[in-house]
Amino acid sequence: MKIFIDTANVKEIKEAASLGLIDGVTTNPTLMAKEGREMKQVLKEICDLVSGPVNAEVISTQTEEMVKEAHELVKIAKNIVIKLPLIKDGLKAVRILTAEGIKTNVTLCFSAAQALLTAKAGATYISPFIGRLDDISQEGMDLISDIKKIYANYGFKTQIIVASVRNPMHVVNAALLGADIATIPYPVIEQLIKHPLTEIGLNRFLDDYKKAFQGNNAK
Ligand code: E4P
Repeated sequence: MKIFIDTANVKEIKEAASLGLIDGVTTNPTLMAKEGREMKQVLKEICDLVSGPVNAEVISTQTEEMVKEAHELVKIAKNIVIKLPLIKDGLKAVRILTAEGIKTNVTLCFSAAQALLTAKAGATYISPFIGRLDDISQEGMDLISDIKKIYANYGFKTQIIVASVRNPMHVVNAALLGADIATIPYPVIEQLIKHPLTEIGLNRFLDDYKKAFQGNNAK
């Protein structure tokens, strides 16, 4: 499973990229707003750091405007992917951009029906938001499993990005279901690395070594 980082924060992206784990980046208008800097400048900096897909979301809600925005965004770098909301105009824009050879990611997916239409429109990626479904007492991961089955039934090439990831179990379950990608916020990437037994084990190894070789009597 590929790992994208879900942030527009260049410092976080740099740190995660240094781990060699980052296959791509997803941003959205909320994440951009948090940075408080000009969006194109931020995207340029991200594209200089990451060679994989960097997802930039349009703000418009009408097809023509979305396509115009997309044309501007793809000028930033070759690896820009255009994120579009899962609305009628978004799906129309997907068809146009796909025909032009521009990669798209359809975001804010909350149902299998929406995911089916997105694949039929020809999107490169679909982003089901599992955390937000969990928030309303619906099992987000069930949606991933349904989309996987539907896409397999018809051989759709659209890749599933498990989005709205909130904890390490979301990532593990995404991998168990065979999702193509999980887009993960930086704090969750850090949680994935850590395990209390690893910390306890390492401290014991180092203490034992110190006692044996760095104590008073040892050389
Ligand atoms: C995905 O591309 C979105 O940026 C993101 O995963 C949304 O997550 P949230 O529900 O934590 O805002």
